[in-house]
Amino acid sequence: MAKKSNKKRKRKKKLAEGADPLKLYQLSVQCPEVEIDFFTKVFREHRGRRPLSMREDFCGTAYLATEWVKSHKKRTALGVDFDAPTLDWARKHVLGKAKPGVAERVELIEANVIDVTDPKVDVTCALNFSYCIFKTRDLLKRYFAAAREGLSEGGIFFCELYGGTEAIVELEEEREVDGFTYIWDQAEFNPITRETLCHIHFAFPDGSRMKRAFTYDWRLWTIPEVRECLLEAGFSHVDVYWDPVEEDDDADDGFRLTEKEENQEGWLVYFVAFK
Ligand SMILES: C[S@@+](CC[C@H](N)C(=O)[O-])C[C@H]1O[C@@H](n2cnc3c(N)ncnc32)[C@H](O)[C@@H]1O
Repeated sequence: MAKKSNKKRKRKKKLAEGADPLKLYQLSVQCPEVEIDFFTKVFREHRGRRPLSMREDFCGTAYLATEWVKSHKKRTALGVDFDAPTLDWARKHVLGKAKPGVAERVELIEANVIDVTDPKVDVTCALNFSYCIFKTRDLLKRYFAAAREGLSEGGIFFCELYGGTEAIVELEEEREVDGFTYIWDQAEFNPITRETLCHIHFAFPDGSRMKRAFTYDWRLWTIPEVRECLLEAGFSHVDVYWDPVEEDDDADDGFRLTEKEENQEGWLVYFVAFK
């Protein structure tokens, strides 16, 4: 009889254990080309030239900042985030992997976005609702005032907001991405304060899960509130662009400038604020 091996079988690593949450975030949430095209189009329409310098507030992995610089040889970017490990990840996995001539044009600053007003740039953006961490009008206006002060003459600030009838209820939404499932979890919404607690989870084909890879503790502002705070922070004019998410995807002609829309289950808008 063959001798039984007493060697223990090595446990196969679950997919969730080997996955990098910041990489999964980039793959499932971010789409820098769309944002770069939108900023360029709007800036060109209003200022008659291509914007060259960009500041990405709440930059995280600096994916957008790096793609911005890659999109034109004269472009420069500044990324601001107060989380040192995330900025280290950006240096290693994003800037470190870019072609020569790219990393030198991206400056990363470890700081609170409220404290940064230099160097001056053509475009500043705060994407994926990150400014919703500011839960009072006072803090929100202080942030918008800093963003405004950090713009050069004629500079433009872009930020986004989500909303709709399903934004204010507890729900989980799943989306298939290449090789994994992205799960958006609206765990709590308090109608008295409009504070919301949301998580991102990732699930894998082998049944493993990365729970609460990211957690957001926000105030879900409304469109008029954000607009008023931008104006009170000194911006001269604020446009609202609506993303027609629920229309025919094939007929997607991008965000539209608008002042009246029907409410939807879920919507996304861009604020475009002029210095
Ligand atoms: C949702 S991620 C945004 C990543 C990326 N910019 C995007 O659009 O998807 C939020 C990032 O904001 C950073 N952050 C949160 N509050 C901040 C603050 N007051 N100042 C600077 N960074 C902040 C966090 O460290 C985190 O990396």
